[in-house]
Amino acid sequence: ETTLGAAAAQTGRYFGAAVAAGRLGDSQYTTILNREFSSITPENEMKWDATEPARGSFNYGPADRIVSHARANGKRMRGHTLVWHSQLPAWVTNIQDANTLRSVMNNHITNVMTHFKGQIEAWDVVNEAFADGTTQLRNSIFRQRLGDGFIEEAFRTARAVDPAAKLCYNDYNVEDWNAAKTQGMYNMVRDFKARGVPIDCVGLQSHFGSGGAPSAFRTTITNFAALGVDVQLTELDIAGAGSTQYSNVVQACMAVARCTGITTWGIRDSDSWRASENPLLFDRSGNKKPAYDSVLAAL
Ligand code: XIL
Repeated sequence: ETTLGAAAAQTGRYFGAAVAAGRLGDSQYTTILNREFSSITPENEMKWDATEPARGSFNYGPADRIVSHARANGKRMRGHTLVWHSQLPAWVTNIQDANTLRSVMNNHITNVMTHFKGQIEAWDVVNEAFADGTTQLRNSIFRQRLGDGFIEEAFRTARAVDPAAKLCYNDYNVEDWNAAKTQGMYNMVRDFKARGVPIDCVGLQSHFGSGGAPSAFRTTITNFAALGVDVQLTELDIAGAGSTQYSNVVQACMAVARCTGITTWGIRDSDSWRASENPLLFDRSGNKKPAYDSVLAAL
C-alpha cells in the first residue's frame, strides 16, 4: 500500500492524525491529511474550554469545521475529550458544591455528545485521571468534589447519551507495564468490566522520548486487550522520530488483534505541540521522513 490509511486498513485498523481547525486552510496540510490518514482527532476543539467556555453556553464552530472536513473526505472521527482537569475553564474549577459539579459534568457530557451524535466513533470520555508514579487518581477538581467515582459516573452518563459510540479511557505514562500508573489504570478497567460499568476502549497516548516505547509496551497492549477492551494508540509522537522507534510502536500494535488504530499527534513537525523535538512523520515542508517509510513497512 502507498498510504498510511490504506496500509492500516488491510488489517481493519485506522491510521489517524490530530487536526487543528485553524490549519484546514493550509493546502499542504490538508493534502497530506486527505491522502494519508483515515481518522481525525480534534487537537483542541472538543475540549471543555472550547465547547463550554461559560456555563450552559456551548460553542461548536471549530469542532464542527473539523467534523465536516472529516465527513466530506470520508474520515473516521475520535472525540477528545469530555472530562479532563486541563484546558478546563475556571468557572468549572471554581465550583465548590459537589451536586453542582456533578450536574455540570453530566450536562457537559450530554450536550457535547448529543451535538456530535452519530459522527464520532469513539470518545475519550475521561482523560488523564491518574497521577504519575502512583496507582491513584490525581487530585483534580472532579476527584476532590465527587470522589473517585466521577469516572464511573461519566462513563454511565456517556453510554446513556450515545449508546452507539465507543467509550474510551485515555492517559499518558501508562505504556510501560512496569509502571504504577499503568497498574492503577489496569485495575480500574478490570473493575469496570467486572461490575458492568460501560467502557469499550483504552487510549494509550504514546508520547515518547527519543528511545521510543518501553520494552514492556507490547505486554501492556496485550493485557488491556485481554480485559475485553479495544486498545488505541491515541497521541503518538516520538522525539527525533527514529525509524526503529516508530517501527517498534507499530509492530506492538499489529501484534495484538484488539489494537485497532494509531493516531499521530499532528501531521508535520511544525504542527506538533512538541515541534522542537521533530517527533512526527512529515517534515516542515510536508515531505515524508524516514520514519514514515518504517511505519508504512510495519503496517
Ligand atoms: C495538547 C495540544 O496538542 C496543544 O495544542 C495544547 O496547547 C495542549 O494540549 N495530552 C492530551 C492532549 O490528551 O489533549 C494534549 O494536547 C497533549 C497531551
